[in-house]
Amino acid sequence: MTEIRDLLLSRIRDVPDYPTPGVLFKDITPLLADPAAFAALTGALADLCARTGATKVVGLEARGFILGAPAALRAGLGFIPVRKAGKLPGATLSQSYDLEYGSAEIEVHAEDLAAGDRVMVIDDVLATGGTAEASLRLIRRAGAEVAGVAVLMELGFLGGRERLVPALDGAPLEALLTV
Ligand code: PRP
Ligand code: MG
Repeated sequence: MTEIRDLLLSRIRDVPDYPTPGVLFKDITPLLADPAAFAALTGALADLCARTGATKVVGLEARGFILGAPAALRAGLGFIPVRKAGKLPGATLSQSYDLEYGSAEIEVHAEDLAAGDRVMVIDDVLATGGTAEASLRLIRRAGAEVAGVAVLMELGFLGGRERLVPALDGAPLEALLTV
């Protein structure tokens, strides 16, 4: 696992002052462009799905789609997109959450999740935890169970884990890297 971590870390590019001055952006595009690193990441996420007994994968728009869809396929599970508000054509459940300035809203097709499903949430980054926490609410409101949350990277200094753990109610939060 240390080898995989080193490989993943070596393919994440630090971009200073993006999107605003003082922020160090973690760019995963070099990792996605490297098939060995992308396959290692997909395999690690699929293993987490298997270990937690997940029966479905939720990916969080947009970067969670890039990681979640191949992990779901590799694990032999269905993929459910959680989208930013207004993008899904069918009947949806919506959940709003607070950002530093203002608020955001995410949605899922109500028919995609139901009682009996065990859902793994996949995203690229855990920052404040607001997006992931809102996704857990959507999953539970649909009647499904949370198998866990898996991210490539946890930004430890933003306190997302502290926010998310109570909402996980005993389900695991797995971060392949903490930066
Ligand atoms: C980013 C990131 C996570 C989220 C983490 O998404 O991809 O989804 O923020 O932040 P949080 O833990 O504070 O909620 P963003 O919506 O900025 O962009 P994206 O559409 O490119 O994924
Ligand atoms: Mg995102």
